[in-house]
Amino acid sequence: MVELLSIEAIQGALQGYWRVSILDETPSTMNNLKSSETEPWDLVAAEFQSAGRGRLDRKFESPKNSGLLFSFYVETKKDQKYWGFIPLLIGKVVAATLNEFSGQTQFKTKWPNDVLVKDKKISGVLVETHKSGLIIGVGINISNQVDQLPVPTATSFFLETGELINRNILLAKILNRFREVFTTWESGGDFVNSYLASSATIGEEVEIYLPGDEKLSGRAIGVNQSGALILEGGEEVT
Ligand code: BTN
Repeated sequence: MVELLSIEAIQGALQGYWRVSILDETPSTMNNLKSSETEPWDLVAAEFQSAGRGRLDRKFESPKNSGLLFSFYVETKKDQKYWGFIPLLIGKVVAATLNEFSGQTQFKTKWPNDVLVKDKKISGVLVETHKSGLIIGVGINISNQVDQLPVPTATSFFLETGELINRNILLAKILNRFREVFTTWESGGDFVNSYLASSATIGEEVEIYLPGDEKLSGRAIGVNQSGALILEGGEEVT
């Protein structure tokens, strides 16, 4: 059994201001932040979500205590036309932190919002606009056994490394790293190349599902500053 989420353990490892709440159970941590009182750097983590959701109206399911499930709210003065890069930034941060924890380099991003290890999904990111900013939601499979995975194409940190990691420390490291990357990005830092270096998508033939069951396919050759995927031939997918 992994250690339970603990505000003290998280706050003790965090740098900078964050207002952290932990819930034993909630429909979705995204919804917990959908209040007019939510302020930048408010964060909600939960041991279980009864109606966790992913992109394109999909469900995101994770057995109690087995994942790291959290959402936080950010605001930025950066022009809204670049906000599409934010899901890529958080995906890159999650992949880098999982690599740091495992001492490996096998955790990669899959455009736009997944983290993969050996072609299996370990994490997904969901970003929704709220007030004048964004709610960023992250789910990572941590201690799931094979029979606790939502689909056979998913995996968990435990299944890939044999290790049970401390979710409180993992969360704090992800948040510390995100804050640093986000601040640099806001002040003009260019993360396109470092995103491409973390990507399992670039150079591959891809099929992209769009809202309304539309599907696009082609060879992925890059991303732009707005987070759009560039296909061979120049088509940009947002
Ligand atoms: C995806 O895979 O399409 C995105 C999954 C995002 C899941 C996280 S878990 C915390 C937050 N609350 C939710 O309901 N969804 C996000």
